[in-house]
Amino acid sequence: MRLSGELQVAGDKSITHRAIILSSLATGQTVIHNPLLGADCLSTLEIFKQFGVTYQLTANQLIIDSPGVDGFTYSNSILDAGNSGTTARLLMGVLSALPTTLTLVGDASLSKRPMKRVTSPLKQMGACIELTHDQTLPATIKGQSLNGIEYELPVASAQVKSAIMLAAMFASGETKIHEPVPTRDHTEKMFEDFQIVYNKENRVITLSGPQMPKTPGQVFVPADISSAAFFMVAALMVEGSDLILKNVGLNETRCGIVDVLLQMGGRLTIQNERYFGGERVADIRVQYTKDLKGIIIEGEMIPRLIDEIPIIALLATKAMGQTIIKDAEELKVKETNRIDVTVGELKAIGANLFSTEDGMVINGDINLSYHPALVSSHGDHRIAMMLYVASLLMKNELEIEEMQAMNISYPDFLVHMQKVLK
Ligand code: S3P
Repeated sequence: MRLSGELQVAGDKSITHRAIILSSLATGQTVIHNPLLGADCLSTLEIFKQFGVTYQLTANQLIIDSPGVDGFTYSNSILDAGNSGTTARLLMGVLSALPTTLTLVGDASLSKRPMKRVTSPLKQMGACIELTHDQTLPATIKGQSLNGIEYELPVASAQVKSAIMLAAMFASGETKIHEPVPTRDHTEKMFEDFQIVYNKENRVITLSGPQMPKTPGQVFVPADISSAAFFMVAALMVEGSDLILKNVGLNETRCGIVDVLLQMGGRLTIQNERYFGGERVADIRVQYTKDLKGIIIEGEMIPRLIDEIPIIALLATKAMGQTIIKDAEELKVKETNRIDVTVGELKAIGANLFSTEDGMVINGDINLSYHPALVSSHGDHRIAMMLYVASLLMKNELEIEEMQAMNISYPDFLVHMQKVLK
């Protein structure tokens, strides 16, 4: 069994969220091509539906019709972000400025994740938000008129940056955001598509409000590099594989995994590079590679591959020597504590690794054979798919509990796997 042929993985989750948000705030119709219709993006869509935005789904298109913010209606005061941190955090920036009072809730995992990082700057802008125990969802948000602020991001988080940028569109005056470490810049790129005027220089974003997005008519979503990551690692690890992943988003702030896989010695070729709007895309050919080597991953590389660390950890278990992942404490506040869960589940199948304060150390062994165990995604989509890739390398079946967590970002994951496994 090997992976071969061509595949276009699911649409990008981060870009789909932003496309839904900006299309819903803009008046008129926007066609989103190749959207991700995973549970997280549907949570964002459902919230705007409650405000009177309508949508139609056709083959690989999401057509959004919006009356614009001034035409929003507020029949339901409870909004559910489900499992989606991006929905909750980005939308807090919008809800803070709407002329109504709303309560934002989430599932058990999201209700444990830190929200103060978003509410602190929004409150400085004049937002009225009450968190539960001053930390977490549910949040009650009473819309206010906002004002611009100058803010230095204390954590490298694109969700926090984007929440402030969205609020800044509604605010009077200038907002300046200082970003010490670069994080994904899809909001910036999509602001350009929707004619929001801002300036970004030396990691400082300046935006003067109020200004509302204007639809470009259509938006093209690249295939998600975070979803492609599972296929890249599977093809590198399963003997005889030779796979082409089509139209993968290779935004500089997201493609750390490509740099890391090349550094580990992986046979990866980037072909047919081009742009969808401001987003760079390309096809990636991945071929089985026998002698991968361990590396150190740290510093500014971390935000460029934060969501790919569980699958990189799996690869590192069968690379030569040690892989050290540092500066990644943010992993502790993802859908699960991804340091503990990655280390725990990989240990259960026989890998040699341990967690540290800000990451993990993996002692790779090219002769390692994983052993059967009962493992679980713990409800985390990226852990579910990482464990599935591990199962491809085992003679016996790996029993994975809560595999359905994959529906959050990649409902077609298993169908796509079947398509390329020959
Ligand atoms: C995202 C940003 C990242 C990432 C998440 C999606 C986004 O989170 O982990 O999956 O779409 O902005 P942080 O901003 O918390 O780092």
